[in-house]
Amino acid sequence: MAAVKAWIGERLPVEPGSLRELTNEPVPYHMKRWWFALGGTPAYLFLVQIVTGILLAVYYQPSPSTAYESVRYITQEAAYGWLLRGIHKWGATFMIAAVILHQLRVFFTGAYRKPRELNWMVGMCLLIATLMLGFTGYCLVYEQLSYWGAAVGANIAGSVPIVGDFTKALLLGGDGYNEHTLPRFFILHAAVLPTLLTLLVVVHIAIIRLHGVTEFRFADEPAEHKHFSFFPDHVMSELIVGLVLMIILTTFACILPATLGAKADPLVTPEVIKPEWFFYVAFRWLKLFSGTVAVLTTGLIVFVMFAWPFIDDWFRRKTRFAEASVWIGIVGALLIIGLTVWEAAVAH
Ligand code: HEM
Repeated sequence: MAAVKAWIGERLPVEPGSLRELTNEPVPYHMKRWWFALGGTPAYLFLVQIVTGILLAVYYQPSPSTAYESVRYITQEAAYGWLLRGIHKWGATFMIAAVILHQLRVFFTGAYRKPRELNWMVGMCLLIATLMLGFTGYCLVYEQLSYWGAAVGANIAGSVPIVGDFTKALLLGGDGYNEHTLPRFFILHAAVLPTLLTLLVVVHIAIIRLHGVTEFRFADEPAEHKHFSFFPDHVMSELIVGLVLMIILTTFACILPATLGAKADPLVTPEVIKPEWFFYVAFRWLKLFSGTVAVLTTGLIVFVMFAWPFIDDWFRRKTRFAEASVWIGIVGALLIIGLTVWEAAVAH
């Protein structure tokens, strides 16, 4: 045993002490409350998406003539294909929900404030990359709504001033949906976006390690317990969360399995075109205002979200409204929920 240890030690000269220091950050006690540790949930679900996604890619064929049939094969014939598809689909829903909840927690606890402004911006990139993963995944199934959702999405991208035409052509591989489009969505969904997301998560976690998470103190916490160990305490809690999530995902995949609508028909526009639930809010917004106004205001909102730590800092230092972020956050959250429910409730 000692010889094996020495052999490995010579080839991988890593000090156990420095390794422990590198991985074992003291975690503030408030992180025992699960809603403070929600960032681990999208990270875990991202892993589930990578594993199930790779397995789905074994059978998926990204071309307009084969995509739908390959998804049908996965759903109806491949061993446990229906389960993998169900977990991947529900995993996406839960991951997006977890990212939104994590962002809400960071927002309402003011954990984006100095010196964490840049990490909030990295977080915004993570949010956009996660939503894009959801959108491109939805397009791959090649059922009616995948096709028309992609067409509508590309048209929206096309209405962005200056770069719109170029972005649309880049996305579709031509002026309109054609045989090059689906492979592009697949490359985006299975290679470009997951790589980007991985890099962003690494940067996000590295910055968290540099600052540590924001310290909060609660009255009911024992005074002598300021911190607990990342390993094994926090890792164990995350493992339990992971196991519970796996049970929930499998249950959802069994009770509400991923379905397959009618095959895409470029000649028949469906009566009702709807994106996935996480784009309801943007879709309703686009319906409320004319094309360019809607796109420009959406851009402005996203810009404000990116710059929020600096806008909030200005409110706190230069105005009497030091708590403006809470009220703006509540109004924003209610608006998002309201528009989402509105879009869900009506056909057009
Ligand atoms: C795939 C998406 C994401 C992953 C995997 C992730 C992961 C994490 C983790 C593990 C933490 C440590 C504390 C915690 O668990 O809450 C954290 C903290 C943080 N995250 Fe995220 N995050 C993601 C998205 C976002 C988004 C969308 C935002 C905001 C726009 C954001 C902003 C922050 C900030 C500012 C902190 C520091 C919080 C503090 O100091 O208490 N993250 N993130």
